[in-house]
Amino acid sequence: MQKVVIITGASSGIGFDTAKLLAEKGYIVYGIARSKIETDLFFSKQVDVTQADQLMKAFKEIYDKEKQIDIIINNAGMGISGSIEYTDESDIIDIFNVNFNGLHYVIQKALPYLRESKGKIINVGSVAGPLSIPFQGFYSASKAAVETYTQALAIELKPMHIQVCTVLPGDIKTNFTKNRRKNKNESLLYKERVDQSIGVMAKDEENGMSSQYAAKVFLKLVKKKRMPLSKTIGFKYKIFILLNKVLPKRFVVWIIGKLYGFTNIKNKG
Ligand SMILES: NC(=O)c1ccc[n+]([C@@H]2O[C@H](COP(=O)([O-])OP(=O)(O)OC[C@H]3O[C@@H](n4cnc5c(N)ncnc54)[C@H](OP(=O)(O)O)[C@@H]3O)[C@@H](O)[C@H]2O)c1
Repeated sequence: MQKVVIITGASSGIGFDTAKLLAEKGYIVYGIARSKIETDLFFSKQVDVTQADQLMKAFKEIYDKEKQIDIIINNAGMGISGSIEYTDESDIIDIFNVNFNGLHYVIQKALPYLRESKGKIINVGSVAGPLSIPFQGFYSASKAAVETYTQALAIELKPMHIQVCTVLPGDIKTNFTKNRRKNKNESLLYKERVDQSIGVMAKDEENGMSSQYAAKVFLKLVKKKRMPLSKTIGFKYKIFILLNKVLPKRFVVWIIGKLYGFTNIKNKG
């Protein structure tokens, strides 16, 4: 029987290519995004993941038509750059609403269907969750929250035979880089360091893996009889995650500071 997969954030990047690949492989795919997804490769719904009522309506429509929902891929996400000190509450609310609360609303509204299908939930975190990055502090915090939430969820859902996994992508070339927002009111105390740091991150992403490569990792997870609890995308990033576990935290933070901190730049405030 064909499995029904719902993927959030399917209008571009990782989400679009995963939706396309799964549809090509015979899954019934519904892609979700705020914008209208102009494609006949898979079905789509115009839904904002921060709006629980929109999700509930969309899932009911999908279930009424397909009679099952088997797999949820929680991929919608956004980034905001800037210093922690000068990030406004509205920006913090926005990023947590999409990257964390939205992901939770999706799961909450999908669970009644997943219980029936004994389905799977795949949550997209980031290598920037365990390896917290300066001037993207709230992004890192939102992705770290996804990982800890998913661990607790795994235990709560075990008796219901619903498997969960956090996927930690490394740098991937997508629209994420151009869509990354700047905080509204950066201070001269940080501005030069923020700009340098974000420049390095943007370059890493531009030179990153393809979203088609990431899509293949999602396909493998979807097909797997038993998913791992966590899956990092990219060999180099698997090494980083391993080193983060074994090296002293102080040393890990020192290295990240060297790469992205620009602590040698004097403030202008
Ligand atoms: N690219 C990387 O290097 C990288 C690395 C680690 C993790 N990730 C994570 O991978 C995921 C996908 O990112 P990407 O790189 O493919 O970026 P992307 O090309 O910018 O795609 C983001 C997707 O999320 C959707 N989205 C954003 N807000 C939404 C909302 N409120 N409701 C519904 N959909 C929403 C966007 O569609 P609309 O704007 O049309 O709503 C878009 O389809 C994100 O969670 C990101 O944090 C990316």
